[in-house]
Amino acid sequence: MGSKNKLKRFKENESFENVIQPTREEVINDFSLKGKWNSFFKNDNPIVLELGCGKGEYTIALAEKNPAINFIGIDIKGARFWRGAKTAIENNMKNVAFLRTQIELIDFIFEENEIEEIWITFPDPQIKYKRTKHRLTNTSFLKKYHKILKKDGCVNLKTDSEFMHGYTLGLLHGEGHEILYANHDVYKNVYSPEEVISTQTFYEKQYLEQGKPITYVKFRLNY
Ligand SMILES: C[S@@+](CC[C@H](N)C(=O)[O-])C[C@H]1O[C@@H](n2cnc3c(N)ncnc32)[C@H](O)[C@@H]1O
Repeated sequence: MGSKNKLKRFKENESFENVIQPTREEVINDFSLKGKWNSFFKNDNPIVLELGCGKGEYTIALAEKNPAINFIGIDIKGARFWRGAKTAIENNMKNVAFLRTQIELIDFIFEENEIEEIWITFPDPQIKYKRTKHRLTNTSFLKKYHKILKKDGCVNLKTDSEFMHGYTLGLLHGEGHEILYANHDVYKNVYSPEEVISTQTFYEKQYLEQGKPITYVKFRLNY
């Protein structure tokens, strides 16, 4: 994408009422929406997050199917989620928001027990050992997810990366969490949950074209 196009999207994001772009300082100093996200949506419906949402395909698809649930797509790249935000506005979807921030700050943004469910869609696997701290299913991230999730809340991870899938399953076993479902090739399994096979993200489509299997794990954290 050209830089002119990016600037245009940044500008439009500023005018979208479903886009929130707090500064790091606003987030870490008593963030105004923490514990108050239901007032943002003006209802008491459950809240589901998509982390590293990119263009927000999952956020939009799940929100269309579940109008009584609120969805927030989170990504640091605003020019990407502009697509999802624009679609939500065009389709008058009131249960969708996009938040531009670092996932590392998630426990400053949401209160304990504020979140119903988390989706992590095609995260960078961060294979190099030095990058472990950026891997979205390392122990430090899992603890943050546990903090903001409701007691029975769960996490969904969809990835093309066998490494990420295996790493996450190993960690979940090792730390004694509850694996609710795991599959290493969702499109070859007749029992795959509908929400897992009915939506393809931007990155996923490219992996499918390359013939890569898509993996999925759903889990509940027990810290
Ligand atoms: C490989 S892309 C996948 C995007 C989308 N989920 C898809 O499947 O098409 C990973 C996304 O995660 C975002 N991301 C990675 N690490 C992040 C972090 N720590 N905080 C916020 N966003 C992050 C990137 O900006 C990027 O859009």
